[in-house]
Amino acid sequence: MCGIFAYLNYLTPKSRHEVLDLLLNGLKRLEYRGYDSTGVAIDSPQANDIVMVKRCGKVKVLEDAIAEHFSGKEYDEPVMTHVGIAHTRWATHGVPCETNSHPQRSDDENSFVVVHNGIVTNYKDVKTFLEKRGYVFESDTDTEVIAKLVHHLWKKHQGYSFRELVEQVIQQLEGAFAIAIKSKHFPGECVASRRGSPLLVGIKTKTRLSTDHIPILYGKDEKSSQTCEKDTEASKTKVLPRTESTSEFMPLEEKEVEYFFASDASAVIEHTNRVIYLEDDDVAAVRDGTLSIHRLKKCLDDPHAREITTLKMEIQQIMKGNYDYFMLKEIFEQPESVVNTMRGRVRFDSKSVVLGGIKEFIPEIKRCRRLMLIGCGTSYHSAVATRQLLEELTELPVMVELASDFLDRNTPIFRDDVCFFISQSGETADSLMALRYCKQRGALIVGITNTVGSSICRESHCGVHINAGPEIGVASTKAYTSQFISLVMFALVMSEDRLSLQQRRLEIIQALYELPERIRQVLKLDSQVQELAKDLFQHKSLLIMGRGYNFATCLEGALKVKELTYMHSEGIMAGELKHGPLALIDDRMPVMMIVLRDPVYIKCINALQQVTSRKGCPIIICEEGDEETKSYSSRSLEIPRTVDCLQGILTVIPMQLLSYHIAVLRGCDVDCPRNLAKSVTVE
Ligand code: G6P
Repeated sequence: MCGIFAYLNYLTPKSRHEVLDLLLNGLKRLEYRGYDSTGVAIDSPQANDIVMVKRCGKVKVLEDAIAEHFSGKEYDEPVMTHVGIAHTRWATHGVPCETNSHPQRSDDENSFVVVHNGIVTNYKDVKTFLEKRGYVFESDTDTEVIAKLVHHLWKKHQGYSFRELVEQVIQQLEGAFAIAIKSKHFPGECVASRRGSPLLVGIKTKTRLSTDHIPILYGKDEKSSQTCEKDTEASKTKVLPRTESTSEFMPLEEKEVEYFFASDASAVIEHTNRVIYLEDDDVAAVRDGTLSIHRLKKCLDDPHAREITTLKMEIQQIMKGNYDYFMLKEIFEQPESVVNTMRGRVRFDSKSVVLGGIKEFIPEIKRCRRLMLIGCGTSYHSAVATRQLLEELTELPVMVELASDFLDRNTPIFRDDVCFFISQSGETADSLMALRYCKQRGALIVGITNTVGSSICRESHCGVHINAGPEIGVASTKAYTSQFISLVMFALVMSEDRLSLQQRRLEIIQALYELPERIRQVLKLDSQVQELAKDLFQHKSLLIMGRGYNFATCLEGALKVKELTYMHSEGIMAGELKHGPLALIDDRMPVMMIVLRDPVYIKCINALQQVTSRKGCPIIICEEGDEETKSYSSRSLEIPRTVDCLQGILTVIPMQLLSYHIAVLRGCDVDCPRNLAKSVTVE
């Protein structure tokens, strides 16, 4: 959701055309996050001016506009040092249009231009304050107040550095943000900051970096510092200390260096694998090629430095390869991604499971009062899918919660609760808020994420990294199956010393061993699924029914169909059929039913009969060779047999493929469905 990409080249000559290509490429890498408009700002070849180009729609539209706008020869001349900022916007305040796109500016002269992710909740107060001082707003965005507030402070406090101005500004802002700012008054400088929205800095140097950390520079003691005015109505009581970088540490100083500010690592990985993940309220500033990270106040347990992390991700991992869409690539990656999730954890020879990231906490978890699994969307469904097994193997009460609803209810949380936060991105605002809520109440926080360095990762006490590899398609696929397996592995760890459960554990471990091959078999159904899609794509609705271990597949399958095809779809608990959904059944209503040979088989057959006796003609997902079940319908998909608690992994794959094929047939944008975002960083 929204993407920031900024690029600063210091003493590394690049033409403006090259800079623009870099910015556009960065935006393309962020496209998967979801957006509806785009924009860039670079220095004009005419002295000391900033030019912006913004467009509604895809990055391609911006690319065409840039080709038209910046066609002159002067754009081919190399510039030693330059800052360019770029953005993909997902509308929150104001419709998608050019004026509302970012960068937003401070004034007609583009003195300060800003790109922003997140929502400034007090923007109305700040806007009123600025309007009273003569500022005229051109957009409906909350972001514009940031640009204008920096400008206002710059006029008031001549002599402040760019970084100091931004520090003053962020103290006036409430809500969530990640920002990158450029100014014609501070050429060659870029300042970025975050609170609640992810932001990282990539560093590229010609020679090896001289350090593996960047010291944090803290503001001076408040008592000895100067103060500035109470700058907005919104911050009437705040006295703002001016900060100065007084530190015995040296910031990162390299001769020739390039910096990248980005919302996530996929935008920088092709340039550098050395990144710093900024923390809330960090202000990262580059001046004269030197990167420094500042914080206003030092708390007792604050670290002295931010580590420079080496990314393990490869560029190929985020490329589409031979597939038409990232989603299809990610569906077909599942035989490998599940292996990566289990690698080094499930020891098939000794039939044991070790989760290094939570090992030390297992005794504490075993003493807990209950387990809570919290997430949104697909991540929530992985909790639904594994709840039954967790209850069986841990013998603890397991609550499964949607993060947004959990917060709405002010759910009671206790010190002896263990709360799992499941999130592919590790940045979903509702999940993160719920995490902080539980942490404040003393619960143990376990993160289950796919993104190293994400907020949920960092703020958890311990966790499991699902290792599914970058997931670019907005609709989650391989992350779901890897989250599923991570939770199964956790259940296995918890039951290690339970004698009565040994047989069950062995059966599951064996099934995990065979799982990649079983997934490959399911993927071979692709052309059959494509044929079914041809029958279904012109319909308005699709009902998906199942129960027990396969109920989660119904929910997840219906979510995939909705997200990708814009068709109505509903996952129905088969046990609830006669309490309402049966009224929907006739000979025209498309229905899918999952009927596997597990403990609820007979109940599923009852539901199937209730549907067929109302002239319903369901597509059945059943086990390979199950002629009896198949005989209830003319259309079926046969999946290989596995242990009951892992069936959900095999039954969800035909649903992923089905939604994909229906979306293609309906001409939908598979990787970036309308109105949706990969990483939902607003509540
Ligand atoms: C968005 C995505 C979904 C995803 C959900 C939770 O809605 O479109 O695919 O399941 O967020 O995201 P998370 O990153 O927390 O798993």
